[in-house]
Amino acid sequence: MKPAVVLLMGWLLIGCAGTPVQVEEGKIVYEQYCASCHGLNGEGQANWQYPSEDGFLPAPPHTDNGHTWHHPDTQLLMVIANGRNKMPAFQETLTAAQQEAVLAYIKTFWSPEIQAAQADVTRQSE
Ligand code: HEC
Repeated sequence: MKPAVVLLMGWLLIGCAGTPVQVEEGKIVYEQYCASCHGLNGEGQANWQYPSEDGFLPAPPHTDNGHTWHHPDTQLLMVIANGRNKMPAFQETLTAAQQEAVLAYIKTFWSPEIQAAQADVTRQSE
């Protein structure tokens, strides 16, 4: 294999925190199951910082502007599997691999700096 290809693969693996195949599968899952609330580009719902009339928080953005990246992978996967308040549980709908793939796709909404910061949060939690 050419060195450039090896470098590119390394970048994809480390930089995107998910294999290209995983990210592609995650995109399909995200657009089918998550985009209706969290937005096609992870922009979240309006006034997501404030509880709505029912007392629950709207869906937060998954971009640099949200707080998804403040949490380690294990915690995010737990919310995806079990849900929280108005966030539905997906453990019956999605396989574990699909849940991991969708998280890998969410990470592509983050800038390189935020990806690195969240990777640190994840490492520190282990
Ligand atoms: C019906 C709307 C809805 C759908 C569909 C939905 N979510 Fe959510 N999600 C929410 C809400 C609301 C919250 C905030 C819950 C709370 O903390 O009260 C949330 C929170 C989260 C969080 C935690 C974010 C944080 O900063 O703590 C993650 C991760 C997440 N969702 C991922 C997903 C994924 C992945 C999917 C698709 C498989 C999905 N959500 C589908 C409404 C939704």
